[in-house]
Amino acid sequence: MNLVANAPSADGVWRQLRLLPGALDDGSPIDGEVALVVVQGLIRWIGPAADLPAAYRTFAQHDGGDSLVGPGLVDCHTHLVYGGQRANEFAMRLAGASYEEVAKGGGGIVSSVRATREADEDTLFALAAPRLQALLAEGVCAIEIKSGYGLALEHERKQLRVARRLGEAFGVTVRTTFLGAHALPPEYAGRSQDYIDLVCKEMLPALAAEGLVDAVDVFCERIGFSLAETEQVFQAAKALGLPVKLHAEQLSDLGGSELAARFGALSCDHIEHLSAEGIAAMKDSGTVAVLLPGAYYTLRDTNLPPIAALRAAGIPMAVSTDHNPGTSPALSLLLMANMACTLFRLTVPEALAGITRHAATALGLQGTHGALAVGRPANFVLWTVREAAELAYWFGNAPVHTVVRQGKVFPTI
Ligand code: NIG
Ligand code: FE
Repeated sequence: MNLVANAPSADGVWRQLRLLPGALDDGSPIDGEVALVVVQGLIRWIGPAADLPAAYRTFAQHDGGDSLVGPGLVDCHTHLVYGGQRANEFAMRLAGASYEEVAKGGGGIVSSVRATREADEDTLFALAAPRLQALLAEGVCAIEIKSGYGLALEHERKQLRVARRLGEAFGVTVRTTFLGAHALPPEYAGRSQDYIDLVCKEMLPALAAEGLVDAVDVFCERIGFSLAETEQVFQAAKALGLPVKLHAEQLSDLGGSELAARFGALSCDHIEHLSAEGIAAMKDSGTVAVLLPGAYYTLRDTNLPPIAALRAAGIPMAVSTDHNPGTSPALSLLLMANMACTLFRLTVPEALAGITRHAATALGLQGTHGALAVGRPANFVLWTVREAAELAYWFGNAPVHTVVRQGKVFPTI
């Protein structure tokens, strides 16, 4: 499968466009018709169509159909590569079991570990490809993909290799995250420290040496790893010069966010139980707060992340699918924007910045993704809507006219 080779080039002049508010890197508006020029896969010019320099008028012309043009979406937290699925646990939770009870009963993450270990690389690729395609069809141009369902060197490697292959096959920016400390594998039951040693001393250095790790994550939680264990993994990441991020304060407040902030983490994710101290620490470190309404919804959580306090502190808030087979089998980033508004009370501009600009920052991609600017790779979406609020308003269909990803055109209508 090579979708990229067959996709036409986006080079030329894109016209009949209007600008999505907040789409430009500097936030400035453009009234009326907008033109955007792509040369060799990069944005060369963007501005009022009336000001288009004459030199570009002879270039190939693309009709934008009066769409709203905005940056490609960024899904900054996913567990996209795994074997099996966990619909049975969905049924168990509907019958009253909690996520922690399911996990303690041998289900949860560990059941996905069993299925992932059984699958070979090609099988994992074939399973993940349609999930990725669903996200791409909706305008995702950069995505984070975590390991964490292998929990042994060869199986974590398999997941990360598949993540890299997906990026190449689909022409999408993929940032890989090593999440070896996601859960204690059954063969290490009662030997948590031994497993953390394996993660820090063998798995992470080997996978980093193979170029498979862009960042390092830990599930810091009662049913995951302690604060002290998280710190050991962060130290190992730091020694290798890798950025960290954290599944923090999802089910309880262990103080993970303060620790992550101390390590200059890219992001703290979930944070339903984030404390005032955690917010203060994140504010000082520039760490992005990643909100995951799909997991909140699936687990029927009732502890809202402290949105008003995050807003007051000026902490950038990203929104992501957290796609995973247990707590968020979600394949629509726009639906997450909708849920961030309806469940978490984000404003529409906050939700849209959350799936573009701030999501890019959560991946360290703020220089290339999440906003439109001259010199950046051509990653943009033409939306068939009259106004920006519609992007968070409709759910169940993606109002996409065309996606331009890495300088290639992927029409959807
Ligand atoms: O982000 N919280 C931990 N990790 C995932 C869930 C993984 C799973 O249940 O398989 C999450 O929600
Ligand atoms: Fe997650």
